[in-house]
Amino acid sequence: MKEIKNPKTLQREMERLRRSGRTLGFVPTMGALHEGHLSLVRRARRENDVVVVSLFVNPLQFGPKEDFSRYPRSLGEDRRALRQEKVDYLFRPLAPSFYLSGHQTFVEARELSRGLCGRFRPGHFRGVATVVTKLFNLVMPHRAYFGAKDYQQARIVQALVRDLNFNLEIKVLPTLRDRDGLALSSRNRYLSSRERKRALAIPRALAWARDEVRKGQRSLPSLKQGILRRLRASKVRIDYVEFVEPDDLTPVRGLKAPFLIAVAGWVGKTRLIDNAIMWP
Ligand code: PAF
Repeated sequence: MKEIKNPKTLQREMERLRRSGRTLGFVPTMGALHEGHLSLVRRARRENDVVVVSLFVNPLQFGPKEDFSRYPRSLGEDRRALRQEKVDYLFRPLAPSFYLSGHQTFVEARELSRGLCGRFRPGHFRGVATVVTKLFNLVMPHRAYFGAKDYQQARIVQALVRDLNFNLEIKVLPTLRDRDGLALSSRNRYLSSRERKRALAIPRALAWARDEVRKGQRSLPSLKQGILRRLRASKVRIDYVEFVEPDDLTPVRGLKAPFLIAVAGWVGKTRLIDNAIMWP
């Protein structure tokens, strides 16, 4: 695995590979890798000649009171895991060479960024859209891989690829879960074992809702109340429980067509998100 820090060096190398006819698969990450990331890497490995992973804790997508400085970092382990998956390139830029001083260009998917996490993390998706745009311009991949746990992020990336005419395919792969049902996330490392038990209320509430819909429940208020009750019983401090259209993330009125239930909440000092698509 070749490790590159300098953006220009990476771009030149990627240009060379593209010209030689090789297909490039790209997995952007902030490190602290888990099986969810590795499932993206494995898929990229299967579908492309060359696999590129970026590891960059992007300061632009953290608010001033968020966990940028304590975000988990585990470079040694990450490297070992990526080598095992036969990744070809690890791009690991340093912030000053990635955002040059005086950086003033930002990318924003307006409507898609307004609701859900966008309401609670102002500027977050602008940071994500900007870093992803820059990474796409440097790597120039044929395919890029994202996880469905960050559903809003995936929709925003799909929109920016369409709106800004990137010539690449976005693949969104299913959320991976631990055996107890908790969606894999780098932030799960923050949870104590007690907190982890409380956090299980999130996937369990979604599973309960799925069962209810399967049994014919079509009342949005009843489903929402049921989810809220389950989260509160485990002392999850709720940011939101929203029922939205899977495409444009606007609130749904009825429960006839497929809809997405998206949840964000705090367990102690850890913010967790999860979601599930329901097929009535
Ligand atoms: O999902 C993440 O880890 C990040 O938001 C991403 C896509 C790597 C951009 O920094």
